[in-house]
Amino acid sequence: MGKRPEWLETAVFYEIYPQSFKDTDGDGIGNFKGITEKLSYIKELGCNAIWMNPCFESPFGDAGYDVADYYKAAPRYGSNEDLEELFAEAHKLGMHVLLDLVPGHTSWDHPWFKESQKAEKNEFTDRYIWTDSIWESPEGYASLRGISDRDGSCLVNFFTHQPALNYGFYKPDRPWQQAMDAEGPMATRNEMKKIMSYWLSKGCDGFRVDMAGSLVKNDDEGKGTIALWQDIRSFLDKEFPEAVLVSEWGEPDKSIEGGFHMDFLLHFGPSHYNDLFRCDRPFFAGKGDASEFVAKYLDSYNKADGRGLICIPSGNHDMDRLAKYIKGDDAKMAFAFLLSMPGAPYIYYGDEIGMRYVEGLTSKEGGYNRTGSRSPMQWNRSKNAGFSEGDKADLYIPIDPDENRPTVEESMADEASLLNEIRRLTAIRSAHKAFRNSAGMEFVCDGAQGKPLAYIRSAENEKILVVLNPADSDHVFNDIRVKELIYVLGEKPENKESGLVVKAKSMFFSKI
Ligand code: NOJ
Repeated sequence: MGKRPEWLETAVFYEIYPQSFKDTDGDGIGNFKGITEKLSYIKELGCNAIWMNPCFESPFGDAGYDVADYYKAAPRYGSNEDLEELFAEAHKLGMHVLLDLVPGHTSWDHPWFKESQKAEKNEFTDRYIWTDSIWESPEGYASLRGISDRDGSCLVNFFTHQPALNYGFYKPDRPWQQAMDAEGPMATRNEMKKIMSYWLSKGCDGFRVDMAGSLVKNDDEGKGTIALWQDIRSFLDKEFPEAVLVSEWGEPDKSIEGGFHMDFLLHFGPSHYNDLFRCDRPFFAGKGDASEFVAKYLDSYNKADGRGLICIPSGNHDMDRLAKYIKGDDAKMAFAFLLSMPGAPYIYYGDEIGMRYVEGLTSKEGGYNRTGSRSPMQWNRSKNAGFSEGDKADLYIPIDPDENRPTVEESMADEASLLNEIRRLTAIRSAHKAFRNSAGMEFVCDGAQGKPLAYIRSAENEKILVVLNPADSDHVFNDIRVKELIYVLGEKPENKESGLVVKAKSMFFSKI
């Protein structure tokens, strides 16, 4: 892998769900111009990078994760040129933008899939994974059957309308399973390289890659998929060495080996991420236990082994909003954690003002229970919360109906708001080398059963102790003393003879 681009060292990401961020043309759906208009807001929050969910031509059966043309921006967001302008304006502010690449599947409306369904052989026959006969369905995978003149079942990657692109099988064991280096799989891989080149040449800074570990089939240990990404990375290293790759994989030993710069902790699977934020007794609400999370996190951290970063998001478009479980000072503590840990922090739009999970919404564009976390951004108290000048009935998803819903404008004016706390925290993060994304980290206390979560971040000569104590009781560390407090919320800790007394419901960062 080439060198990690310098800017990733201090990157703090803001995730934008483009549909719901800011609408400038009154059609009730957010757009590129709206995002461009709000870049300085994002920058002032302390975020210098953006991950934008898929924004390509699509029937939107899965909010755009069902692409119908990888080379064309969805007209509802604007033109390709508008997107280029967004990149250029972000760069002027010293910010970077990652697009969301969906290489594992397309929409069943993609012209490639239409061609692939034809009985006669053509260029796209092997773009997807088909069995030889409709009577054979691929074992272990869902499939589309009885939909085409072509005889065969077609393997699906996620929803039924998302047929899997063909990158081959690590160990083909049926006649219809092609090897990774067969002509069809190689053509798919080359097309993906072309798509990446296209957007990188237009000014995007890289990609968050959807289901990055899903590409090669019959690949339990991920060896084929790792090799495939290594090939893509070496292609990028030659053509676009600065291009950043972030994976939705959740297995940093594999993703980093494949050439990704960063991977995410996933909210599903074994990460215990939800123990902190989203469960009946979340750690940051002062009731839970963080120790299993710490053990799992350490495992991921060690697997990334300094070669890459493992990132923790405040939320995303797939999970319940943080504010459903954690509020007030507890939310501030959750952000103090997110903004003091290694890896690049990711703030999901609206989490900075404590936007709620909106209950009871009808599913929109394949959102289902995720729809409540995708409602329009609440900018102010004007029409449609300042999101859109359009008719209320045309809004992509209804605005949170709560009269007391938080807004950006009010949060900015309130010194004690979550938003202003986040600004202070991002400023502290950027002022200290020990808080750089790849600076060292060592846990001091694992947040088990009423204990605080504590860790030391370090770089060069700087060592910063972070202590987060959401519990209702004080805690004493016998062998630690604080030297110079650089951030405190709640009561200050005290150096006593018996040790360092950390007050209930308090947190601090201190040089040691
Ligand atoms: C993960 C994305 O985050 C999610 O929103 C999407 O539905 C699936 N991948 C399928 O692409």
